[in-house]
Amino acid sequence: MGIEFLNNKFHIFNNDISYVIEVSEQNDLLHLHFGASVEANNLFHQKNINTEFTSYSDEENPKYSLSALPQEYPSGGASDFRAPAYQILTKDGCHTPELKFKSYEIINGKPKLEGLPAVYTENDNEAQTLIILTEDINYGLQVKLYYTIINGYNAICRHSEIINNSDSPIHLKNAQSFSLDFPAGNYEYIHLEGAWAREKHIERNAVHKGSQGFESRRGASGHIENPFLLFFEQGATEDYGNAYGISLIYSGNHKFLMEREYNETVRVQAGINPFEFDFKLEHGQTFTTPEVVIAFSENGFSKISHTFHKLYRTHLCRGYWRDKARPILINNWEATYADFTKNDLIKIADAASNLGLELFVLDDGWFGERNDDTTSLGDWFANEKKLNGPLSDLVSEINKRGLKFGLWFEPEMISLKSELYKAHPDWLIKTPYSKEHYGRHQCILDLTKPEVRGYIVNILSNILSNANIEYVKWDMNRNMTDAYSSSLPADRQGEFYHRYILGLYEILETLTQKFPKVLFEGCSGGGGRNDPGMLYYMPQNWTSDDTDATERLFIQYGSSLVYPASTMACHVSAVPNHQIKRSSPLSMRGNVAMSGAFGYELDLSKLSSEEIDEVKNQVEFYKNNRDIIMNGTFYRLLNPFVSRHAAWSYVTEDEKTALVYYIVKQARPTNEAVYLKLKGLNSNYNYEINGTVYSGKTLMNYGYLIEDNEYEGMSFILKLNAVN
Ligand code: DGJ
Repeated sequence: MGIEFLNNKFHIFNNDISYVIEVSEQNDLLHLHFGASVEANNLFHQKNINTEFTSYSDEENPKYSLSALPQEYPSGGASDFRAPAYQILTKDGCHTPELKFKSYEIINGKPKLEGLPAVYTENDNEAQTLIILTEDINYGLQVKLYYTIINGYNAICRHSEIINNSDSPIHLKNAQSFSLDFPAGNYEYIHLEGAWAREKHIERNAVHKGSQGFESRRGASGHIENPFLLFFEQGATEDYGNAYGISLIYSGNHKFLMEREYNETVRVQAGINPFEFDFKLEHGQTFTTPEVVIAFSENGFSKISHTFHKLYRTHLCRGYWRDKARPILINNWEATYADFTKNDLIKIADAASNLGLELFVLDDGWFGERNDDTTSLGDWFANEKKLNGPLSDLVSEINKRGLKFGLWFEPEMISLKSELYKAHPDWLIKTPYSKEHYGRHQCILDLTKPEVRGYIVNILSNILSNANIEYVKWDMNRNMTDAYSSSLPADRQGEFYHRYILGLYEILETLTQKFPKVLFEGCSGGGGRNDPGMLYYMPQNWTSDDTDATERLFIQYGSSLVYPASTMACHVSAVPNHQIKRSSPLSMRGNVAMSGAFGYELDLSKLSSEEIDEVKNQVEFYKNNRDIIMNGTFYRLLNPFVSRHAAWSYVTEDEKTALVYYIVKQARPTNEAVYLKLKGLNSNYNYEINGTVYSGKTLMNYGYLIEDNEYEGMSFILKLNAVN
């Protein structure tokens, strides 16, 4: 791993990958390559660009045109007609700066991003960072481009800083985290599209001429489009082809753009959505974009996922719980919803304790006057009548049963029927012109206001300090409308969406530092804000409100492209399933939920004796194997989007142990045999499976024969142990 600057070329590299940037004679930053390892000296930019209908800046040299050359952080309006990486507006109305290379620095380690979540290193030997300073002297504008390579990862972390050195304020209208120009070729992409309770479904498309992409304008990363793009050369598969994974570490409005030009090149960008974005920079002020991680694999998608899983598990998730086994939990939501008595909770806790569970989570409905979803958000004090005493008493009773205690909050929200609204009607987000809009009967607090952030930190700190609460589920159940803050002047209203997210990050940083041993789980009606930004503060996330095991096959498959199993919370729920009324066997529900941070979400006190035995086995199996699930290398074996079956596996780093999961998603009477080809084993090892020994190469090249696949919902987990 290293970064060099030789013959006007920057080369960021390790044994597998190269990222090459040229500083041209004209002092432009030209992108030469990102992909498999190369000799940087042998790379050149195109010298003879056709001058018809191009634009150029030097009459003596019309064949040098930024309208066709690949660039690192392109400006708009000045000879490049493609999408600009950033846009500004000066007080005179000018908006066509041209950045030129000024200087560079190569440092050990990775600098923090002020106020933003980002990949981190624990010591400076782990990484190197290239910082390139570019400038347009006439505009008084500087842009710093950051590139970090971390030892052992085929990925580059990028972000930009935009600095106003002019005498007057400038308005930043667009500030993408990165821009990357791919050479002429045929490309395809996969994005993670979805909806509430149907998150992260994969959709594969060809990159066609013109602009395409996806975005969120919901004030959150959203259920509809996860901030992740898998971009690849045509025909790439799980294990074949050049592929790029692009993951934005941001929880607000995002935008991913692919622009295929007349010459078949493709520009790819990702960053904050320019929708309603207008950030005013006073003289000397800097704007920092969120970070984007771009991973490369010359062997298809699987390796992209491996890079993200390990990087995010160990260099994005932080704190006490990062490497700890996640407790198996019981959540009361689908068992009782908000309608419960203390007795109901204790009955569930007794059953959970008897089954060997480790954490009891009290979901929505424990505070204020909250018995349904119309009231009390913001009133974060326990309903002692409903809980039959103080919260701390309930916590002690749960702890006495050998269970940790966890609590649900939705801190960013306010109900109009609440004490908080009576006291602070001006704290919710609304414009001066129109009545506020609602979502799930609630409004959003204006986190751009310091007093609102202070309230949330204080009221949550109070609860967390006064009872032994070891887990928090942080929910957020609506999207943002009426983006406006009475605390911002008119010419700063375009900062609102981003300042909201910065405010949220500040609250999360404060609370997670103040309560370092509390396990925080992110949630937004399931996966409405399941993004890498949140993982920096909360090492796990409620994957979806759809707990149906078959639906989860799709959701968890899509999630697995980028998010590690340790971050995906998955629960066994009752049948018929509450969201889609399907009844799946308990074994299948268990096997699907045991592919992440495991838990149950049903009334355990109502299980039959057979079910009790089965759940006890599931709990014991998970306890014995969760280390493999959390830290093993994950392989997608059969894709439920295209196959009647689903299968996946986890293999330990030493390749000596593996868990293989197999599910019949849809049965057929003809009962075809499946030869399940395993991955990631050692071809020199022999593995024992249920008493029979197979060679690793047979299991990978011929497969493991599955005959018993005749009913829908049939599932099993195989454990492989190397025997030589
Ligand atoms: C939405 C979450 O996704 C659910 O798990 C549950 O916590 C409800 N909110 C509670 O209102």
